[in-house]
Amino acid sequence: MSAPLRFVSILLAWTAGAWATDYNLPFMEYLDKDTLVHLKWGFDHLQGNITFQLIVNTTGWVGFGFSPHGGMDDADIVMGGLGSDGSYFADYYSLGEKMPEMDKEQSYTLLSMTENDGQTIMTFQRPIETCDEKDFQITAQSIKLIYAYGTTDVIKYHGSFRGTKEINLLNYKSKTVPPDARYLSVKVDKISVPPNTTYYHCKVMKLENLPTKHHIYQIEPEIENQEVVHHMLLYHCPSFVKEPYDKPCYMGDMGDTCFGVVASWAVGGTAYELPENTGIPIGGTHSDTYYRLEIHYNNPQKKEDIIDSSGLRLYYTDKLRQHDVGILTTGVFPVSHMEYDVPPKAEKFHTYGICNTSLFSQLVDPIPDLQVFSVLLHTHLAGRKVRVGHFRKGKQIDFLGVNENYDFDMQEIVNLGNIKTIKPDDEIIVECVYNTLNRTQSTMMGLSTSDEMCLAFLFYYPAINITSCTSRPNTTLLSTTADQIAEYQSLVNALPQVQYITDANSKSSLYRHGTVRNVMETPTATCKNTNIASRLSISWMVKAGGIILLLLSIAIM
Ligand SMILES: *[C@@H]1O[C@H](CO)[C@@H](O)[C@H](O)[C@H]1NC(C)=O
Ligand SMILES: *[C@@H]1O[C@H](CO)[C@@H](O)[C@H](O)[C@H]1NC(C)=O
Ligand SMILES: *[C@@H]1O[C@H](CO)[C@@H](O)[C@H](O)[C@H]1NC(C)=O
Ligand SMILES: *[C@@H]1O[C@H](CO)[C@@H](O)[C@H](O)[C@H]1NC(C)=O
Ligand SMILES: *[C@@H]1O[C@H](CO)[C@@H](O)[C@H](O)[C@H]1NC(C)=O
Ligand SMILES: *[C@@H]1O[C@H](CO)[C@@H](O)[C@H](O)[C@H]1NC(C)=O
Ligand SMILES: *[C@@H]1O[C@H](CO)[C@@H](O)[C@H](O)[C@H]1NC(C)=O
Repeated sequence: MSAPLRFVSILLAWTAGAWATDYNLPFMEYLDKDTLVHLKWGFDHLQGNITFQLIVNTTGWVGFGFSPHGGMDDADIVMGGLGSDGSYFADYYSLGEKMPEMDKEQSYTLLSMTENDGQTIMTFQRPIETCDEKDFQITAQSIKLIYAYGTTDVIKYHGSFRGTKEINLLNYKSKTVPPDARYLSVKVDKISVPPNTTYYHCKVMKLENLPTKHHIYQIEPEIENQEVVHHMLLYHCPSFVKEPYDKPCYMGDMGDTCFGVVASWAVGGTAYELPENTGIPIGGTHSDTYYRLEIHYNNPQKKEDIIDSSGLRLYYTDKLRQHDVGILTTGVFPVSHMEYDVPPKAEKFHTYGICNTSLFSQLVDPIPDLQVFSVLLHTHLAGRKVRVGHFRKGKQIDFLGVNENYDFDMQEIVNLGNIKTIKPDDEIIVECVYNTLNRTQSTMMGLSTSDEMCLAFLFYYPAINITSCTSRPNTTLLSTTADQIAEYQSLVNALPQVQYITDANSKSSLYRHGTVRNVMETPTATCKNTNIASRLSISWMVKAGGIILLLLSIAIM
């Protein structure tokens, strides 16, 4: 079976019954200031779908759409409701301040229509990109969303029951925090950045004492020297780290063992807000914990006299959210100069880090399902592509992250669009592709900017005590030296993988016999024609829609 076909059959297996939960609708906003119109949504880039749920405090008709300018002109609209004859729903196109016309091509599929407690709940889906020029093309930009509703199921002029709100659906960003919100400022203090291309500074410290458990819900960078601060990571330390320090990283200090990621930021990123039912735990039993702030300075011009006080601002609340968030580091075991490298003059050199989650039970038992909602992918300068394959029972079922056009200067925490479940015994394979055409020397796997890394930080809940799950090939078995890059790459990737898992106390466990599996081709979702499923829904919809058309004469929305 070809890769795309295989992918389709997997999709079918995986979507059955998925609507029972809200894992497909992780984002939500009220569209009006009176909180009567509530929109939830989620999407899957690889399948090319976006799903909406519109919840309005009315038992009449409801409408939702996309508008180029915020009004009715050229707006792409869906309207529906649950009337005495059952549900009605259709895709419309509006030419202006009059009754929108039903689209010939119905690009939206109704998934469910219910009424409950005086609210109408309309759940529907469409391809992100449709082939119908009458549909609004959804992109990762702020989009003007419009809504309207009525008090009965007779669709007519909405009067004041209408509005507009601008939201970036595919790249949803944090709301601004209230001005009195409490935060911790975790920063270095006027350190002198040496005139070296790569410099890692580490500050090991306790955070402000919070006697009870709190939740961090937003992470914001506070950057003083934009041109050199490349990434920042805050790790929590195992309990045996009891001394603060402030000096270059990885000099053999105790704090080098602090590897449980708490918060992260990388160049190109902005503020990051966690989903509203989750928070990163701090304080309480954690209040004796030391943390290590690591700042990677990238100073290719070797500028002198840079004094820096950058860091992270962690907004926290004592109103605990439902789930503790954990961040799991996966990918290629990050270590200084291991005995395998990326050859120069390679156009696409692939490396792999694997994580067999069945190993988790050696350190933590039992293991719950892990719900992954965001990912931060990380390589250095030669990285061109990073993909995180998700495998179950030996077969790839999904991707936990894909960046086909990786850019060292644009690394940010990306919301997945839907929540993906890692079940016990699933495997995670991180693939990185490097381009070294411009290099004359081998590139080592290591910490310096001119070395390479291959990591995926997975943000998930509920938190478990495992902080990292990475691997590296056992190169003692690399007997032949291959001349050809392709040959060398396949030799390296065929080596047994040594896997490392680490818990919150830096207790680690090693497992010798993993192998790299093939990661499927990334499916490409381009403009999609309306499929059979949505055609079926048109036939019953036209009936209800016909009634609406008869009744309508005045402008809506
Ligand atoms: C994506 O949408 C198409 C058409 O609406 C549908 O057939 C498919 O099942 C959807 N995929 C998911 C994950 O819902
Ligand atoms: C909307 O309806 C829900 C369910 O009946 C109710 O809990 C909520 O308070 C209502 N919202 C407003 C703003 O009236
Ligand atoms: C900066 O580079 C110099 C020369 O390569 C080296 O001796 C020094 O240790 C480096 N400093 C730091 C803090 O890495
Ligand atoms: C190689 O270097 C040239 C010149 O510095 C640059 O224009 C080009 O983009 C580089 N190519 C790659 C693949 O990095
Ligand atoms: C995680 O490990 C720490 C230290 O070993 C322990 O105190 C804590 O109870 C553990 N938490 C969970 C959820 O197992
Ligand atoms: C690598 O393989 C050799 C030979 O089988 C073995 O002796 C060694 O223990 C392995 N190294 C690790 C870290 O597993
Ligand atoms: C994952 O680990 C389990 C037990 O530790 C093992 O049985 C299984 O074969 C491993 N999977 C792979 C792909 O190595």
